Amino acid sequence: MLQLKPLHPDLGVEISGCDLSKPVSEADFQTIKDAFFRYSVVVIHDQKLPAEAQASFLRRFGIPKISQRKEFHAPGVPEIGRLGNTKNPDGTPSAFLDRHGNLWHSDTASDEQERILGVTMLYCVSTPTSGGDTMFTSSVKAFDTLPPDQRSELRQLTVVHNFNKHNDGLLAKNPGSAMPLSAEDRAKWPDREHNLVCIHPVTGKSCLFVTPTLVKKIGDHAETESEKLAEELVAHATRPEAVLRHKWRSGDLVFWDNVAAMHSASPANYEGGERLMHRGYAYIEASAEQKAASAA
Ligand SMILES: [Fe+2]
Repeated sequence: MLQLKPLHPDLGVEISGCDLSKPVSEADFQTIKDAFFRYSVVVIHDQKLPAEAQASFLRRFGIPKISQRKEFHAPGVPEIGRLGNTKNPDGTPSAFLDRHGNLWHSDTASDEQERILGVTMLYCVSTPTSGGDTMFTSSVKAFDTLPPDQRSELRQLTVVHNFNKHNDGLLAKNPGSAMPLSAEDRAKWPDREHNLVCIHPVTGKSCLFVTPTLVKKIGDHAETESEKLAEELVAHATRPEAVLRHKWRSGDLVFWDNVAAMHSASPANYEGGERLMHRGYAYIEASAEQKAASAA
């Protein structure tokens, strides 16, 4: 029997009473999926989840995206990528070390408007005792708590996100913090225009959708002004009382909705401790009824 325990007034729920290494019944999966859309972030502790079982669970949400970094795929399971600081016997990295996750963002800010609804799913294989927490905030609550006049204004605006801008910014600040991209790779990341306030395709709720480091333009504002507005909105969204902080332990599975929630890593001050996460991502297709209801 599944039990649900909300974790924060704005978002997050812990679900207990399930073993995801075994097939999950349709009824239980529906409960989990309903909780996912209601609470935006789901935490399930104490799992023993082989990569294949995680991939099977992920596929029930939608269409997995396969990471381009084949060298970090879990063996035989390309839907699952390894993140962390582990090494191969020859000293080369066996997992992707994300050096720049400690910025508030949505994992779908560089996707087309129709494909921003997606679930990111992290399973913690091993973690040091401190550092590397993941923080979340509700994009719904962020929008709802803005003054009414500002809400009306923001509803009229679009935001242009571009991944190359984010990557270039990291390289300029710290050349070791990101990969320089070839012209061919850069071409894979065109500008993406999004509604600054997205109507969630499943819940119909209004969500602030902005990732400051990717912002090139908001409405008709110049780039600098657009960046400033994006940062102000995210500062509002991430005021301390609005943040849910997840401290990892081995066996945790955490997954979140990239439209209804934003996330950020905390500084990775875990040098010397081993961290290994299995990451999956799936694009979620809302049903025709859900799309019609959320557009109404
Ligand atoms: Fe992320």
